[in-house]
Amino acid sequence: MRRPVVAGNWKMNPTSLREAIELARTVDAAAPDPDAVTTVICPPAIWLAEVERAVSRVEVGAQTMHFADAGAFTGETSPSMLSGLAGFVILGHSERRQYDGETDEGVGRKVVSAVAHGLRPIAAVGERADERSAGTTAAVVDRQVRAALGGLERLGGTGLVIAYEPVWAIGTGDAATAADAQEVCAQIRAILADLDPAAAPEIPIQYGGSVTADNAAELFAEVDIDGALVGGASLKPEAIAAILRAAAESAARE
Ligand code: 13P
Repeated sequence: MRRPVVAGNWKMNPTSLREAIELARTVDAAAPDPDAVTTVICPPAIWLAEVERAVSRVEVGAQTMHFADAGAFTGETSPSMLSGLAGFVILGHSERRQYDGETDEGVGRKVVSAVAHGLRPIAAVGERADERSAGTTAAVVDRQVRAALGGLERLGGTGLVIAYEPVWAIGTGDAATAADAQEVCAQIRAILADLDPAAAPEIPIQYGGSVTADNAAELFAEVDIDGALVGGASLKPEAIAAILRAAAESAARE
């Protein structure tokens, strides 16, 4: 049915083009059959073109973009500039929400724009630690998912991916348990079904937040977790290779 998507979000790493190309080639060589698992690497925007040229099996994604095609937006990258270069774009990552003032409404605009330009959005959602302890996880995720997708007429045919990334699990080594991640991913699946019943079963939902070679298989065994958005481990060749193997093994069992 739906194909898992494992995406490496390199964030602002590594620090040289040479290292970026080397990492891209290593991941490309380790990537499973693209018919079984979609592997994506998301390098810093400045290296998208070189990285794209260095790979043949994996897809390339951007880490963010502006919603507008062109204009007076200093420092930004437009969807027109990305199309033809990147197949995917991460939108609404919690670091963008936290440090760059990205809002639910802004993420929604970007999702519409990405789809209009033929880019597959990886729409990232997830609660902060204080929201989880206040018992508002479900409400936060519901609001973020509906805001991210509210501008789309339908979900089918958009190539949409959702990434559930609890903020407290990002970069902390404290991943959600597979059961807790599954609970929220099932909730997201139900929201997708509410918005577009026919498309919901086809949309990959990733888990992200301290995914490692050790916990990937357990996460991928959950019915509503279809791959991962990987930060730190995506920079380590052996770790990302093991995560990709776990995704391929999980896909082969389904
Ligand atoms: P870590 O895998 O380093 O926790 O980061 C997750 C993330 O933010 C991916 O987008």
